[in-house]
Amino acid sequence: MAVSLKVNGAVRSVPAEPDTPLLYVLRNDLELNGAKFGCGLAQCGSCTVLVDGKAVRSCVTEIGSLAGAEITTLEGLGTLDTLHPLQRAFIGEQAAQCGYCINGMIMSAKALLDRNPKPTESDVRQALAANLCRCGTHNRIVRAVMRAANEMGRT
Ligand code: FES
Ligand code: FES
Repeated sequence: MAVSLKVNGAVRSVPAEPDTPLLYVLRNDLELNGAKFGCGLAQCGSCTVLVDGKAVRSCVTEIGSLAGAEITTLEGLGTLDTLHPLQRAFIGEQAAQCGYCINGMIMSAKALLDRNPKPTESDVRQALAANLCRCGTHNRIVRAVMRAANEMGRT
């Protein structure tokens, strides 16, 4: 059967059963590979996307639960020519090593900055606490989010 999803502002129809995890559809059907498969068990955060502005784990989100929802993926934040301030800041701070966790870090940070544009460092650490980074770049990631928040506050 086909399921209709609104992803990055466009309605997409995908040939999948309603209990299919959103992550599979994004990567396998829609060629949106920003979200990563890490644990598949809602434990690591590498698959994070926004659903109606909230950070959710797409590996355990069934597409049948998303009727009418606005789904935003990393690809929906900026373009190669016009990066989102978070994307710019992560590059500026060289906040990635292997990069596997970075999708989840940026999407969780986006959800945070949308609800709290002037976070403290403690707010950032708390918002990202459940996103795992096996490379240990947490301090650079926190600096990147603070840098983006400062930049967005100026514009
Ligand atoms: S892959 Fe979804 S939380 Fe780890
Ligand atoms: S940069 Fe490698 S898991 Fe975070």
